[in-house]
Amino acid sequence: MGAQSELKQRAAEEAVAHVRSGMVLGLGTGSTAALAVEAIGRKLAAGELASIVGIPTSTRTRDQARALGIPLTTLEEHPVVDVTIDGADEVDPRGNLVKGGGGALLWEKIVAAATTLYIIVVDESKLVDRLGAGFAVPVEVMPFGWGTHLEPMRSLGGQPVLRRDDAGEPYLTDGGHYIIDVSFPGGLEDPQSVDRALRDRPGIVETGLFLGMKPRVIVGRVPQG
Ligand code: A5P
Repeated sequence: MGAQSELKQRAAEEAVAHVRSGMVLGLGTGSTAALAVEAIGRKLAAGELASIVGIPTSTRTRDQARALGIPLTTLEEHPVVDVTIDGADEVDPRGNLVKGGGGALLWEKIVAAATTLYIIVVDESKLVDRLGAGFAVPVEVMPFGWGTHLEPMRSLGGQPVLRRDDAGEPYLTDGGHYIIDVSFPGGLEDPQSVDRALRDRPGIVETGLFLGMKPRVIVGRVPQG
């Protein structure tokens, strides 16, 4: 296992220690969250956890959870989620996040908003002073009229690019939307106002700025000494 994967693994296992039998769990998306889902599956198989149900934040995670035998449920059956474990692309000192590198931001944000204990697992490389400095902010939009957002995004200081799949077609999210990745050279001085300005536009479904969600952030670190 590479050094970075080992840090992610450590953070994922520390997060899973918060999971108890009988809980409703939000299952995040991405390489770090996948390690947590795997650890939950292992504990379930070993009988260390029982009667848990999971709500996946993407079809990818749904398939992984099914393969591991984790029972799944929906937000309709369980509108309150006890613990969600997810990754992030950037974390600032206040616990504000950029998410959506893996394209699952909308379902991730809906699950996060329904969660009592929201745990974010990252390695040290994700910690930043200012959001948007090193990672473009993913913005999920309706396919109809997506091009109308580009100029307003530029006026906010952004450099928007429509995300495409390997075949060169617009990338489609699980919700059937497009993603515009917006980089902000130098980062965002005021993420709240940029988030508000984007979400005010008809056709913009959600942004990858997860602000004020007060996650417990678990950082996989290189051990000292
Ligand atoms: C998925 O859409 C994202 O929000 C992920 O949580 C984020 O990209 C982190 O992924 P990694 O753990 O793979 O870096």
